[in-house]
Amino acid sequence: MSDVYEVIKVPAPVLKQQAEAVGEVDDTITRQLHKMLETMYANKGVGLAANQVGLLNRVLVMDVHQTKEGRGTPIYMINPEIIWQADECSVYQEGCLSIPQQYADIQRPASVRVKYIDEHGQQQEMLTNAEEDLLLNHCVQHEIDHLNGRLFVDYLSSLKRNMMIKKVQKLVKAQEDHVL
Ligand code: NI
Repeated sequence: MSDVYEVIKVPAPVLKQQAEAVGEVDDTITRQLHKMLETMYANKGVGLAANQVGLLNRVLVMDVHQTKEGRGTPIYMINPEIIWQADECSVYQEGCLSIPQQYADIQRPASVRVKYIDEHGQQQEMLTNAEEDLLLNHCVQHEIDHLNGRLFVDYLSSLKRNMMIKKVQKLVKAQEDHVL
């Protein structure tokens, strides 16, 4: 059994909470980053935010360039902040490890500039562009939303949102019923 976190599913309250800023990139944070990355790969995700493993600090991991052969390039973000966003929008069919097997077209700014601290404690910036990398543009905004207690289903009507959450609850219960 590898060292991974359990991924928390809706409607857990921790997914609706605001995560707190990280003060210092120390060994505890580094261990959390690596364990979150392993958790993300183990669950075949492209991004994971701290809230999804029950931790309320502003930390996320992504790897949007995975192939069948293996891993792409992991990106670690600490205290990420969107400092600019385009007026134009892009649409992508998003999913979420905390809302398994549910997907919806979500509209977001087609480009954002993100300021963050990397795994070495260095200040960095990323400029996304939906035309060059649609998945990265949506993934980084989706993960930052998580740190603010916002889920992709929050962009949908309450009818659609509640339907998806009910489906996940049924799915989780069915899995639990099969575990002895
Ligand atoms: Ni998600």
